[in-house]
Amino acid sequence: MFSEMKMEHKLEEARSYLAERAPSLPELGIILGSGLGAFADLVEDRVIVRYRDIPHFPISTVEGHAGQLVFGTVEGRSVVVMQGRFHYYEGYKMQEVTFPIRVMQVLGVKGLVVTNAAGGINPEFQPGDLILIKDHLNLMGENPLRGSNLSNLGPRFPDLSEAYHSEWRQKALAIMQDYEIRPQEGVYVAMSGPSYETPAEIRYSRSVGADMVGMSTVPEVIVANHGGMKVLGISCITNMAAGILPQKLSHTEVMETAVRVEKKFVNFVQGLMKVL
Ligand code: HPA
Repeated sequence: MFSEMKMEHKLEEARSYLAERAPSLPELGIILGSGLGAFADLVEDRVIVRYRDIPHFPISTVEGHAGQLVFGTVEGRSVVVMQGRFHYYEGYKMQEVTFPIRVMQVLGVKGLVVTNAAGGINPEFQPGDLILIKDHLNLMGENPLRGSNLSNLGPRFPDLSEAYHSEWRQKALAIMQDYEIRPQEGVYVAMSGPSYETPAEIRYSRSVGADMVGMSTVPEVIVANHGGMKVLGISCITNMAAGILPQKLSHTEVMETAVRVEKKFVNFVQGLMKVL
């Protein structure tokens, strides 16, 4: 079909542009969430490609996001790092939000580490905690795979019963203590945003099994699974979700916590490169 050919054409142009510039083809992709961008500084022999220079890439709009791909190696692993992601709340279509994942797929990436800032719903969690994502609830009201299926990229009805690869989760849990991180897992609920949730929405989310809430990650994880990648997800709890504590939420608090945890987080993700 026409639209199918068009997407394949776009992907091929982006792929060949990047393959010419990357020092080596990446095996792992890493998405850095809000305020967690410092990991990119660890990448050795790095080649930086700005999103705006990549054919068919969406243009990033939000402050606090560098908007570039960083190719290179970490712990001897060939990686591609997304410094800045595309959020649904910015107005992008789901296909735009997940276009970089498709580009990673056609570059040969086999595994994806996704990170985000999230509000804590589980009262055991505290701002500053790093939580492994064990599963998700998609309450964004949309699915990035809606529409004709690109069967060369993945199946029409992909299985998500292990959307966050269980062996990778076990490996990550096993090393968390080495990085002074309490080994905790949780279910991430994705909302479309950009308003933060109401206390009633958070009580609802808690009652259906959510431990933390955010406005990203789920579209990318669905597409990565469709494309056959293994996925590991990490949430940085930047604040307690609405109504959990008697205080208002602010983007400033979210960014401040993310920056406070950045070092611990970066070390942990570097450690993951040795075991995944
Ligand atoms: N809600 C939604 N997204 C978020 C939050 C939150 O409380 N904190 C960081 N991202």
